Amino acid sequence: MKASKGTSTLHGYVIERPGLIAQFFITLLVRHLIPAVFGLLRRIAPVFRFPFTNTVIVTSFDHVQEVSSRQNDFPVPYQKQVDLLGWKPSFLLAMKDTPDYWKTLEQVKKMWADDDLVFVRQIAKEVSEEALNRSGGKIDAIQQLMVPVTEAVIERYYGVPIPAEKRAAFFDATMHVAGFLFGSQNLTDKSIATAQGAAKLVFSVIDDAISAARQKPLPENTVIGRCHAQDITDDQHLRSYLMGMIMGYLPTNTLANGHALDIILNNQDAYKYGQTAATETNYDLVLKVVHEALRISYILPGLWRTTPQETELGIGSAKTYKVEKGRMIYISAMAAMMDKRRIKSPNTFDPYRSRDVYMIYGYQFHYCVGAAIADVMMQEIFMAVLKRQPKANGKMVFNGNFPWSLEVSYAPGDAS
Ligand code: HEM
Repeated sequence: MKASKGTSTLHGYVIERPGLIAQFFITLLVRHLIPAVFGLLRRIAPVFRFPFTNTVIVTSFDHVQEVSSRQNDFPVPYQKQVDLLGWKPSFLLAMKDTPDYWKTLEQVKKMWADDDLVFVRQIAKEVSEEALNRSGGKIDAIQQLMVPVTEAVIERYYGVPIPAEKRAAFFDATMHVAGFLFGSQNLTDKSIATAQGAAKLVFSVIDDAISAARQKPLPENTVIGRCHAQDITDDQHLRSYLMGMIMGYLPTNTLANGHALDIILNNQDAYKYGQTAATETNYDLVLKVVHEALRISYILPGLWRTTPQETELGIGSAKTYKVEKGRMIYISAMAAMMDKRRIKSPNTFDPYRSRDVYMIYGYQFHYCVGAAIADVMMQEIFMAVLKRQPKANGKMVFNGNFPWSLEVSYAPGDAS
């Protein structure tokens, strides 16, 4: 699967993927222009009101952490999209710091058990090894490896089977809903209608899974099975939590795995550390290599916050910045994780950096609840790939901002 151009249609939901020229400009913007401009801003204007707009861009390490940790002064703006999608009760990442947020977080965590990581690891290992053994030396690492592993976790661990005929549209739909929630905050009638169709499709798959499990109970090592057996919450809440676990997972994981693999295959030092980790079967080092790759090539230019009241940024530092009420704040972890003021030689690939320099999973409030699940999955996928001395056959193909295809050759045979 080389080109991302095309459409998916299901239940009246149609999504057009960008054509070659549109894609060229999106890639140029997201991968080259934005990082260059944000890098410049980080040096000369780390809190910058974009001219003629309501948007303030925050690019320095300290300021990004300050915004992320002052959730009452800088809450998230996504509730409007969540309402438009009919997503009720709300999604954690759209919620403010209220008792309802903490109750939801507690319930979501109750649906998970410590042993789940062992199960997720087993699924990721099995599917990765199987895909690499079957492909015999050449694979599209995104579509034939990373996406199937993520889908297998959704099916076997969450308990949400994705019917074969809906698979492509389901994947497109999750990327589309994620883009609608976390991308441009300027909503149009068209973007709302397409996102509503996409969300409907994802919800229909979740609803079918929940009602099938009511007919024929699932084992307790699945999220749905455990939730039903232990009566953790009702199906309306379960449906919302599963939507969050899918939205936080399938698109994000595709972004993260694609970006990390791209760096590991194209940066000599990254490749060298990756090979050391694989030779020693060192899972800890594999994860460090993946995190460092994501620091250097982060998944997104930024995330959104707002200001319900006028406030200041840079509290306690030599320079403060006034931020007016009603601004949209774009915090760039991508720029922050390359900030020389906090990260020594940020362009050098060094997996042994202090953990404190990483904001891959966010920072403080809204910190990713699925980080441990994502980590074990990435450890298994990258261990399986790196043990086979992979080489990229060409450049990664994107679908909008999402990695879509990256053909890799590798030493065939069982390397487990
Ligand atoms: C490599 C994969 C992943 C990456 C890079 C990632 C990244 C992130 C980031 C940066 C945030 C914070 C967003 C913000 O502050 O605005 C976040 C939050 C969140 N993530 Fe992840 N994530 C990943 C995997 C997952 C998985 C596997 C799940 C579910 C099982 C998940 C569910 C969530 C949820 C529910 C939140 C909101 C938490 C809250 O508001 O308290 N993520 N993630």
